[in-house]
Amino acid sequence: MNSRIVLLLSLFPSAVLAQNPLAIPPAFDVDTFHLVVDEHVHQFYPGINTNTYGASAEYLGPTLVFHTNDTACIRVHNDLAQITNMHWHGLHVPAEFDGGPPREIAPGGAWDVKFQVKNPAGTYWYHPHPHELTAEQANMGIAGFIIVQDDEEAALDLPRTYGVDDFPIVVQDRRFQANGSFVFGPFGDSVLVNGTPRPYLECPAQVVRLRLLNGSNARIYPLGFENNHPFSVIASDGGLLNAPVTMDRIPLSNGERAEILLDLTGMEGDSLLLMSYGSELPATVPGSSFILWEGSALNGIDFPVLRIRITAPTTSPVTAVPAALGTALPLDEALATNTRTKVLSGNGMVGMGMFYINGQMFDLNVINDTIQLGAMEIWEIENISNMAHPFHIHGGSFYILDRDGIAPPLWEQGAKDVVLVDAGAGVRVIMRFDDYITDGWPFMYHCHNLLHEDNMMMAQYIVVDQNVAVVDVIEAPAISVFPSPTSSSINYSVPFAATELRLFDGNGRAVVHLVGPIVPTGAIDLGGLPSGPYMLVVNSRTQVARTVVMKE
Ligand code: C2O
Ligand code: CU
Ligand code: CU
Repeated sequence: MNSRIVLLLSLFPSAVLAQNPLAIPPAFDVDTFHLVVDEHVHQFYPGINTNTYGASAEYLGPTLVFHTNDTACIRVHNDLAQITNMHWHGLHVPAEFDGGPPREIAPGGAWDVKFQVKNPAGTYWYHPHPHELTAEQANMGIAGFIIVQDDEEAALDLPRTYGVDDFPIVVQDRRFQANGSFVFGPFGDSVLVNGTPRPYLECPAQVVRLRLLNGSNARIYPLGFENNHPFSVIASDGGLLNAPVTMDRIPLSNGERAEILLDLTGMEGDSLLLMSYGSELPATVPGSSFILWEGSALNGIDFPVLRIRITAPTTSPVTAVPAALGTALPLDEALATNTRTKVLSGNGMVGMGMFYINGQMFDLNVINDTIQLGAMEIWEIENISNMAHPFHIHGGSFYILDRDGIAPPLWEQGAKDVVLVDAGAGVRVIMRFDDYITDGWPFMYHCHNLLHEDNMMMAQYIVVDQNVAVVDVIEAPAISVFPSPTSSSINYSVPFAATELRLFDGNGRAVVHLVGPIVPTGAIDLGGLPSGPYMLVVNSRTQVARTVVMKE
């Protein structure tokens, strides 16, 4: 390999290198789509072969177009030498067809998927989800967009001509070896958009729609245009917002989507750069310059993602951003039937830490939560670990109630299925568990940092018929603790007859463990423990309560 080629492969000021037209995956709106997952060789850089996986393509896969209320049929063929499966991220499908780790398609096998599309119009995606192999298979290239269309969205004057004024944009970072192979890891130092390095996209001088997806393993992108050129966010993970939100940045964590409108009217001949403003990331967010984590040339810097070259308008352009969009009503907190707490703990690097949900690692044989069909639940997600985690729940969409007690920004007030929870932060979401009991096929919830997910930062829930009595451990009213932060001991009071008390440190280890009847009010001495966050868990056979305690 000569040095010129090595230079091509390394991050290099994009100005001195040729730019490539952005690949737009074909969109298919057919009765039964055959998605063939296979090994391929793809040239991201001319003359350099990279071994990839793809879904009916050398890298990534086609865009599947679904219609709300219609039936979607897909046959997934596995032509890899290892097991795979396929997950329809964000779609509210029967658990049997959700394609989480319990579902395996053997090499040479196929899986027939058929479900009614329940989600509203929006941008969703598919990717493999096999036990401990998700990150590797996604990194090799298996993923694609799902665009759902419905009547409500069709009635709006929005750009929707695929590849003309409506574009899928998946942002991924990859690292290449000199011989062209991918290096697997949390971060890459080459930005690929739809698999294209140093891409440009020709957009007509009118209102265009970009469907943004962070399809990266671990990097988080604060996206925006150069000179803070404004854009309008019209949809989040689970469909249209009720009104557009004008912004100049949108932070996208792994698995998150946002649809934006960009008004290019009158800008023919001009160009505009979509950037990731990585210098703005807090140290705790993967992609920042935090030096104790895995390094990458892209960490902590602002870098170009996509050059937009503005061409002549089309014959019937959309020229204005509609004032009103969807009509979805956020779920009402007052109607919640249950509350659960999910504490994210652990310490480590972006690609190799041990991280836990409620102190536990994923176990395919353990059901972590049993949820009554029709329940509307509040999940309080508290992060006491050392970094931000994108928390994702399968089975549909949720709404964010608040972040640290404060209403989320407007763009986060629509239907979501991934929420970034920063270190030290707490987020409350509300979700309804309708339509399907899980019937032996549990749904997952997990960190969408793909390396954390494969490293067991995942758990599973089942949905049961409300007429079936379940013996489930339910979340009890909160334990109260004071003082917190503390430098010596804390006093607690537990509102139920508990039989076990545990205090977990940030690494998920129980540093205090009491069994037998727990006095309802008592004190725990933290004097000898290092400072930092701890999680206090008190439970009986049927109830559990958790709270975070800070040691100074
Ligand atoms: Cu994007 Cu468990 O999924
Ligand atoms: Cu998912
Ligand atoms: Cu994580």
